[in-house]
Amino acid sequence: MKKLFIVGNWKMNLTLDEAKILANKLRHGMANLNNVVDVGVCPSFIYLRDIYEILQDSRIYIGAQNMYLEKSGAFTGEVSGAMLKDIGCTHVIIGHSERRTIFQETNSMINSKIKTALSYELNPILCVGEKLDERESGKTEAVVGLQLSEGLNGLTSEQVRRLTIAYEPVWAIGTGKTATPKQANEVHSFIRKTVENRYGDDVAQSIRIQYGGSVNSRNAKELLSQSGIDGALVGGASLDSESFLEIVSDAAKLSYT
Ligand code: PGA
Repeated sequence: MKKLFIVGNWKMNLTLDEAKILANKLRHGMANLNNVVDVGVCPSFIYLRDIYEILQDSRIYIGAQNMYLEKSGAFTGEVSGAMLKDIGCTHVIIGHSERRTIFQETNSMINSKIKTALSYELNPILCVGEKLDERESGKTEAVVGLQLSEGLNGLTSEQVRRLTIAYEPVWAIGTGKTATPKQANEVHSFIRKTVENRYGDDVAQSIRIQYGGSVNSRNAKELLSQSGIDGALVGGASLDSESFLEIVSDAAKLSYT
């Protein structure tokens, strides 16, 4: 079985002082855990370097929440993959539903971002997930299937192995509603099957599929116990060190390599 992978997405939250305090608490909290779970945090762009300095000799990966699809140039206000790599990021979230809905990111842009991220040896965390009306009208697999086929377009098996996929039903993000473990597991199986059909069983078994959407210290254990769930992408609960460390500790109990 794979090591579970827990990532905190801090979104557009925290002052610099609060972010540093949180990072220090995570660093100390992680010191008590064996190396049986992978953990990452994704602070705001402008805190990445400070948080990297706090966490650099810990086992916590640093990721960004987004990046631009071009490598460099006249793109005022954007941040490139090269910049992220340069300041110590190992991961980058791509295609989060807030990017898709608020900032109109398309599957084709997301596909380009994944390719650019990979060209800098950043490990993309590709987010997919359906909206409530799509679930209610029975379109979950069609929507997630398209996000995968267009998002992974043109990638080789070796590239796909570097990805983490996060299944985040949009209706569960920040709403306090989680998918039931069964609902989540069904979509995780669909995602793995889709990857298998395109890239073969070996790749499908090697990538980790996280669940995201109102994961907290009360529901994490049950979600993470599902056979197809290899970790969690945690928003709100990752801003509180105790909650996040409890989720990590639940994951550590369930993980074995
Ligand atoms: P949430 O966010 O845990 O606050 O629902 C998850 C996410 O958006 O990644």
